[in-house]
Amino acid sequence: MPEEAQRLQKIIAQAGITSRRNAETLITSGRVQVNGKTVTELGIKVTDNDKIQVDGAPIEGREKKVYLLMNKPRGVVTTNSDEKGRKTVLDILEGIDQRVYPVGRLDYDTTGVLLMTNDGEIANQLMHPKSRVDKVYLAKVSGIATPEKLAPLQHGVVIKGRKTAPARVTIERVDKDKKTSMVRIIIHEGRNHQVKDMLQKVGLPVDKLTREQYAFFDLTGLQSGEYRKLTNAEVKRLKVQDYKNYRKK
Ligand code: URA
Repeated sequence: MPEEAQRLQKIIAQAGITSRRNAETLITSGRVQVNGKTVTELGIKVTDNDKIQVDGAPIEGREKKVYLLMNKPRGVVTTNSDEKGRKTVLDILEGIDQRVYPVGRLDYDTTGVLLMTNDGEIANQLMHPKSRVDKVYLAKVSGIATPEKLAPLQHGVVIKGRKTAPARVTIERVDKDKKTSMVRIIIHEGRNHQVKDMLQKVGLPVDKLTREQYAFFDLTGLQSGEYRKLTNAEVKRLKVQDYKNYRKK
């Protein structure tokens, strides 16, 4: 992956030393060195390969950004550590030196699309309610799903005292003998156990839940437990907040 050039003052600010404005002052007052040379002009661009020092000391925290897409298997938690000692999604990763963390949560028994990154800015943007990132779930539920039963979800139902935003819901399959159904539901909120709670609310308790899509990401090419790095083009789309999902159904 080519190194991305960024403004020197941004890199210094990101390293947590100071604000961007103060970083500019550090530069103009001759306290910053790039590859051993003092730089006093603002706006020069540097990459991860450049050695940056402030008052002669290398800046810390310039961890290379990494972006991963996992097909989360059942039976792992998405927290970084689990008080019950259960396996976490981080235990699955091999050869990733950076400390990444999951973008949002999936339950222990939920499978599917999970992004992980050490880029806090992008993670926060994705999780911000204003971004309205679409999440597509396929749920196997107990009971016979009908349009009437699912209708309240399209308007919003009250869960833990708060109404959910309207969801898009479709019935994919009904097994009348087994009295089970497959329901696809698209939401952009990200409350804890939201899909299970919503379907429970309309009398269709969830037996199995998979997240098929998150923003424009899906599970193509990823077996359960597998993960891959995002492509440059995918990272770029995240950076410009182009979260739309163009998948045709
Ligand atoms: N909704 C749930 O109920 N569980 C998940 O893991 C994700 C969304």
